[in-house]
Amino acid sequence: MMIKSFRIERTGGPEVMQWVDIDLPPPGPGQLRMRNTAVAVNYRDVLVRRGVHTVALPSGLGLESAGMVEAIGEGVTGFAIGDRVACVAGPDSAYAEARNVPATRVVPLPTAIDDRTAASMMVRGMTARYLLKQTYAVQQGDPILIHAAAGGVGLIMCQWAKHLGATVIGTVGSDEKAEIARTHGCDHAIVYTRDDFAERVREITGGEGVPVVYDSVGRTTFEGSLRSLRRRGIMASFGESSGDPDPIPPRRLGHLGSIFLTHPSLPDYTATRAELLETADDLFAMVTSGRVRVAISHSYPLRDAPRAHADIEARKTTGSIVLIP
Ligand SMILES: NC(=O)c1ccc[n+]([C@@H]2O[C@H](COP(=O)([O-])OP(=O)(O)OC[C@H]3O[C@@H](n4cnc5c(N)ncnc54)[C@H](OP(=O)(O)O)[C@@H]3O)[C@@H](O)[C@H]2O)c1
Repeated sequence: MMIKSFRIERTGGPEVMQWVDIDLPPPGPGQLRMRNTAVAVNYRDVLVRRGVHTVALPSGLGLESAGMVEAIGEGVTGFAIGDRVACVAGPDSAYAEARNVPATRVVPLPTAIDDRTAASMMVRGMTARYLLKQTYAVQQGDPILIHAAAGGVGLIMCQWAKHLGATVIGTVGSDEKAEIARTHGCDHAIVYTRDDFAERVREITGGEGVPVVYDSVGRTTFEGSLRSLRRRGIMASFGESSGDPDPIPPRRLGHLGSIFLTHPSLPDYTATRAELLETADDLFAMVTSGRVRVAISHSYPLRDAPRAHADIEARKTTGSIVLIP
């Protein structure tokens, strides 16, 4: 079956994204074919395109889409043609009209969640969930620091953390973004392009620091994040939107107060089917109850994916971004 899809043969700027015809084979054993109705743009897709996250080339792009089951491969049970589903953290092939995905990464969608909302929230919301409940289990009254608080993951984290009873300190790149973060539960929005956020965190926490920093920005925030932690705090370095931080010798973690450094990632927190479904169900409950609102601030035709990439890289976007085939 011929379909349109994005492909990269080399890494680089948005111009390396080619809109090509591909012959999609029938789904293999253990696979489903999905007809995509909404495709997520995650920052990771940009890092793959740039070559920061390495994949074998040529490659498709995008790890998340929502749509309908169109064909079912051998050995797959529990799905029927026509089911509404999302594929979460699957193969890099989501920027396409249709794709074959492993059934183990596919989650059935509740009727209360429409396809666009699903595509804008699964990876980001499930990431928010494992970070706040597992990497460090946020307790009532904890002050916590979330970088890029007005971004896709950031806005979901602010709301969820607020629901858990945290005092949410967030960093953002502009005053407009600070306002958006505040309306999503961020108690203290710091414009880190202007103010020293580590200093502000010390002020807000009465000198003590925070028990956890959720840092997806990487290079430009890493040092300040370490300085924002309290004794035995956890540095959850889960992204590198500004590039990779410099290496750090283990002994320095001791000097900083016996802190913990981890680089958590969604596939490791949803490696089993049970973990994937539990994480997704918790997210569905948060969204259908209205405790987490998903902001689809930007939607583009699928064909315009290179423009979506340019916008997220230029820090022009807030909340989630979806592509519509
Ligand atoms: N480890 C995991 O399991 C996992 C899962 C999902 C996402 N992530 C990571 O989480 C982060 C957020 O993902 P997202 O898709 O929701 O993206 P996003 O937060 O909507 O976009 C990235 C944001 O990072 C900030 N930023 C700071 N320095 C930047 C720079 N030099 N270039 C570009 N942006 C910069 C910008 O916000 P300001 O202008 O406010 O600074 C920008 O809006 C990404 O790093 C992603 O890779 C990790």
